[in-house]
Amino acid sequence: MNFQLTEEQLAVQHAARDFAKNDLLPGVIERDTEQKFPKEQIKKMGELGFLGMMVDPKYNGGGMDTISYVLAMEEISKVDASASVCMSVNNSLVCWGLEKFGTEEQKEKYLKRLATGEAIGAFCLSEPEAGSDATSQRTTAEDKGDHYILNGTKNWITNGNSASIYIVIAQTDIAKKHKGINALIVEKGMPGFVVGKKEDKMGIRGSDTHSLMFTDVKVPKANRIGDDGFGFTFAMTTLNGGRIGIASQALGIAAGAYELALAYSKERKAFGKTLSEHQAIQFKLADMATKIDAARLLVHQAAWLKDQKKDFVKAAAMAKLYASQIAQDVTTEAVQIHGGYGYVKEFHVERLMRDAKITQIYEGTTEIQKMVISRELLK
Ligand code: CAA
Ligand code: FAD
Repeated sequence: MNFQLTEEQLAVQHAARDFAKNDLLPGVIERDTEQKFPKEQIKKMGELGFLGMMVDPKYNGGGMDTISYVLAMEEISKVDASASVCMSVNNSLVCWGLEKFGTEEQKEKYLKRLATGEAIGAFCLSEPEAGSDATSQRTTAEDKGDHYILNGTKNWITNGNSASIYIVIAQTDIAKKHKGINALIVEKGMPGFVVGKKEDKMGIRGSDTHSLMFTDVKVPKANRIGDDGFGFTFAMTTLNGGRIGIASQALGIAAGAYELALAYSKERKAFGKTLSEHQAIQFKLADMATKIDAARLLVHQAAWLKDQKKDFVKAAAMAKLYASQIAQDVTTEAVQIHGGYGYVKEFHVERLMRDAKITQIYEGTTEIQKMVISRELLK
């Protein structure tokens, strides 16, 4: 593994850092308070190439590696985790899955628009009664020859309302259990498809999380991704890469809070000296920086393995498990270093602390990551 970033990777990192500072930071507190989706900012992210970073240029993507992607995710997550979850879902769940497993026709019709942000994508696996236990799909896709009839409800869908292209996982043949599941591309506006209520969340409040309802939605067979029964493997394989995205989001949230706490500790005075001159605060900063570096190594290792086309399932789960844990620790300490100022919105760290929690829940909870890691260790 090469620890030296290339010129191109450094350029991506700087571009993402500038974009986060100039376009995401202004208004991030208001968007969080008002639960406002960063529509204009996401549009610009598409124009800058942040929504289809790893997609082949022939489908309008950036043709970049996963290391570049995690560098950009980290920088954007330092400032606005609501924008970065939209970016993560579009890049690593929707674009990646379509490019890897979609037909040429699907790539022309959908991927090209998703890679530029002209259309936003959503990945719809979770249901009211099927979260961690993802094989227990209740949504059905009845095979009707040249089309499927889709019925059911999906829960907690990121980009739920702002998306226009949805990858929906559904059960076609219950007798075949997870081998009877399909992944279908559903477009907003298809008759019978309704976007449900928006969730009022603890964190990532700018991200629009919705339930989705499908009643007798007619989906052409041409919209199925992969062979009949491939849907669950599609979801699991896609989520392996998605977990690298969420790990880099957690890393960015932690690094953003740390940078704020470091700067604050050098300014704020107590007992005649700056906070940074008190050893208790120095030790907190040392622990925070060490955890962030360890998380970054795990994230980059997973990204590097993926780029090398080596098995990265365990590495991605480890990166997500660890980065999401240290995001809790580091953001909590960042609030502590800010004292009372850390508890109010103006100083950003309370938002980062609230945003950090979701990284232990979505794309497989902490417990599910441990299940994935231990299964890999024992197989
Ligand atoms: N990669 C590839 N294939 C995998 C896999 C992985 N990581 N994990 C399981 N599979 C395959 C298995 O090989 C098996 O296929 P075969 O029978 O063909 O070999 C099939 O999936 C079923 O596997 P299991 O028998 O192990 O299934 P299980 O029911 O015991 O549990 C699980 C599997 C790992 C717990 C899985 O259900 C899981 O990952 N759950 C978490 C779901 C999740 O991450 N949801 C995220 C939703 S998206 C999201 O959250 C987006 C967002 O927030 C922004
Ligand atoms: P449950 O599965 O009911 O789990 C509850 C608790 O039990 C957890 O702590 C879990 O780890 C634990 N648990 C469950 N089974 C076991 C076990 N076998 N052993 C030990 N512990 C276990 N889903 C999508 O498909 N697409 C999205 O875009 C998306 N975005 C989301 C955005 C937000 C803001 C949120 C909150 C969720 C999102 N999700 C999305 C859903 C998310 O992936 C699920 O919430 C997550 O997988 C957990 O499922 P659950 O909520 O049903 O919890």
